[in-house]
Amino acid sequence: MHFQAITRVPGDPILGLMEAYAKDANPAKFDLGVGVFKDAQGLTPVPAAVKQAEQRLVERQLSKSYVGGHGDVAFGRLLCELVLGEASPLLAEQRAGATQTPGGTGALRLAAEFARQCLPGRGIWLSDPTWPIHETIFASAGLKVAHYPYVGADNRLDVTGMLAALEKAAEGDIVLLHACCHNPTGFDLSHDDWRAVLDVVKRRSLLPLIDFAYQGFGDGLQEDAWAVRLFAAEVPELLITSSCSKNFGLYRERTGALLVCAQDAGKLLDVRSQLAFIARNLWSTPPDHGAAVVAEILGDPTLKRLWIEEVDAMRQRIARLRTGLVEALKPHGLSDRFAHIAEQRGMFSYTGLSPEQVKALRERHSVYMVGTGRANVAGADEARLDVLAAAIADVCR
Ligand code: LMR
Repeated sequence: MHFQAITRVPGDPILGLMEAYAKDANPAKFDLGVGVFKDAQGLTPVPAAVKQAEQRLVERQLSKSYVGGHGDVAFGRLLCELVLGEASPLLAEQRAGATQTPGGTGALRLAAEFARQCLPGRGIWLSDPTWPIHETIFASAGLKVAHYPYVGADNRLDVTGMLAALEKAAEGDIVLLHACCHNPTGFDLSHDDWRAVLDVVKRRSLLPLIDFAYQGFGDGLQEDAWAVRLFAAEVPELLITSSCSKNFGLYRERTGALLVCAQDAGKLLDVRSQLAFIARNLWSTPPDHGAAVVAEILGDPTLKRLWIEEVDAMRQRIARLRTGLVEALKPHGLSDRFAHIAEQRGMFSYTGLSPEQVKALRERHSVYMVGTGRANVAGADEARLDVLAAAIADVCR
């Protein structure tokens, strides 16, 4: 027997919530678990811009032969422009490029493998807390994982603690930063905080890896890129993982990229040759469809305009849900306690609810959220915020 010694590991705590929610027969249930956007009908829609781009592709596509190791060239160029800005000098100087990956998670996996193979001995610093898959991707790649404080037990941003920890990082270590819409907390750094982090990164010669999974869901497509562009302008070398899952609604198409900024065009080619080699051994060549859709949208002014409107509408809905929930908590005397929900950004909120309260919410009210108290606010139902607020009030009593 070959499999005798293999034991069972628990299912993924975030994806597992999708199954549990689907099985719950209560019609009044709430899905605040996995990070997907939902509209007023409770659906995760295919954006109209995506639908139109898909139709064009179906009519035009003549081949499904492989795309190259770095993926679709137009996608890479257009995504670099979206992330770094169309007028970025890095693009003119050919100091930045994108390698298409299966989703943002694929980009993180590629970055981890790149660090292991090409930057041996480097540790990586993650925020405490962070997305659980950050922990396991980098640990599985054999990197030494350390943590900088980010949000403490008082459910507040701890920038002082963060900076103090990064001061102690060994020279050359990698520091993973969330560009916007921090997952899981929803607490983002201010511009001044970012400048302070940049200062430590420069002084300690750290390599920043910025995870950019929610461009457009915080304050706007351009606004959310502020820190990424600051770092791109100020440090000679930078890694960025970009995801098209949320802002293009392409979740299951697995569309993302690892962007590299290097000191000069020659060094970029060296690094990209390594990325193509590593990717070839991970997934060979990336899936095409989602990236082709993104390239079609970003390369066509009319489709791009439509898509920007759709991203804006998604962001505005999330903002309304945030303020609406705090408002709905008012009659229960809880609007001060949960005021942070309206101040956080993106889909997620570290609510401050305890694991016991999260359990009670699920058992008594069919409200599903991650055990740490992370709620996907974008999964809430605007018309039933009073019901959700009453449920929260019940478990807070
Ligand atoms: C989340 O954190 O819920 C999302 O990033 C989806 C995922 O893959 O976990």
